[in-house]
Amino acid sequence: AGPCDLYSAGGTPCIAAHSTTRALYSAFSGSLYQVKRGSDNTTTNIAPVSAGGVANAATQDTFCASTTCLITVIYDQSGKGNHLTQAPPGGFNGPETNHYDNLASATGAPVTLNGNKAYGVFISPGTGYRNDKVSGSATGDAAEGMYAIFDGTHYNDGCCFDYGNAETNNLDTGNGHMEALYFGTNSAWGSGSGSGPWVMADLENGLFSGQGSKQNTADPTVTYRFLTAVLKGGANKWALKGGNAASGSLSTYYSGARPTASGYNPMHKEGAIILGIGGDNSVSAQGTFYEGVMTSGYPSDDVENSVQANIVAAKYATTSLNSGTAFTNGQSISLRATTSGYDTRYLAHTGATVNTQVVTSSSATSLKQQASWTVRTGLGNSACWSFESKDTAGSYLRHNNFVLQLSANDGSKLFKEDATFCSIAGLGGSGQSIRAWGYPTRYIRHYENVGYIASNGGVHAFDAASSFNADATWAVSTSFA
Ligand code: AHR
Ligand code: AHR
Ligand code: AHR
Repeated sequence: AGPCDLYSAGGTPCIAAHSTTRALYSAFSGSLYQVKRGSDNTTTNIAPVSAGGVANAATQDTFCASTTCLITVIYDQSGKGNHLTQAPPGGFNGPETNHYDNLASATGAPVTLNGNKAYGVFISPGTGYRNDKVSGSATGDAAEGMYAIFDGTHYNDGCCFDYGNAETNNLDTGNGHMEALYFGTNSAWGSGSGSGPWVMADLENGLFSGQGSKQNTADPTVTYRFLTAVLKGGANKWALKGGNAASGSLSTYYSGARPTASGYNPMHKEGAIILGIGGDNSVSAQGTFYEGVMTSGYPSDDVENSVQANIVAAKYATTSLNSGTAFTNGQSISLRATTSGYDTRYLAHTGATVNTQVVTSSSATSLKQQASWTVRTGLGNSACWSFESKDTAGSYLRHNNFVLQLSANDGSKLFKEDATFCSIAGLGGSGQSIRAWGYPTRYIRHYENVGYIASNGGVHAFDAASSFNADATWAVSTSFA
């Protein structure tokens, strides 16, 4: 059985079932998600390898070979047509054309399920999905349940990495107009014990960790690499649970009456579905989503326990984030541009500015050093890499507003993540592409001889699709200095 078969058997059927990694019904063999590639802007659908099975990642890998790919649709497997697509603007604008949110990279969150490769949905700040015209979801004070599997190591304190029920007009329409899972370290409204991240309930104008609107210490810090988060709400009751999606059972963090703060009892749920954003399209948060469902009715604890057992049996596990040539900690490299007409230039820095410079064996030592980097284990994720300057120890290549710069490591989580890059098979066919860990739609690229993290055909001039693959492909050599 799949999770939604279990909810159905319990009398609380799924009204939405979203996953890029696997079928959530044992009989489901339709499309799980749609990807769009950068080379020709065409799309294809990814289905399970067999009914009830894991997503056919090989279809995606073939379709997306030597180009970039975005997740355009996360299909609803429930049969109700509640698909998730690129979120529109609301109280806050997204960064894309017409203020829509960004779409997620199709390759930012590789995993395996029982040894079979699949891809999750890596949400960078600015990314979001939504459906405002949902069929069958809970409205008003009606009961619903939901769970999602997140990456418990991918979070921030922005508002709000959510999955669940939200406003149908993309605006903050008041307390109690949402009921969604939240994951991260935002403590502007509420918090749990420790320093977070926490699973909380986004009920609008509040992230709730228990009945009180501030700190509830029964809600623990949870950092399981694969995290099951569970929320359900009905008339004057709700519950929040979590657990390790790779083993063991769920723990109840809260189960009881609705908050006493005004507006949350009864609830005023509107029934839209969001992923990666707040109800008003707040787009500052990050996180990773693998699968999630929403139900009609208040699921029993027994059903939720059997769903957790089903999730554990799916055997989520990590796999390499790198597909290019392996780097090693301590390796000294130079990176040569491969774009025709620019291929005598190397990625270098001039003070804090990162650019490309023509360097040869007879260049001055200072210029050779500016074009030389020491590879380090990724400061923000040890599965990827950071690049320390040869001539300015302690300073690293990082992005800031998508512009590369050389900066001293200030020890912050944001710096470390901005200075972390994964090694990807060269988009240009040979060589190496280098992807920003936190923005997997973006690759180190030169544009007018300046260094950026660029997406293929995005809104900035430096995102130009023209010559993207070549500009984002580097020849790695032993360093000049
Ligand atoms: O409740 C927290 C957030 O507050 C909601 O997600 C958003 O709509 C509002 O800004
Ligand atoms: O470069 C993109 C983002 O811009 C970085 O993550 C952040 O430091 C800055 O706001
Ligand atoms: O960085 C040099 C060139 O500038 C790039 O190849 C091109 O995309 C831009 O015009």
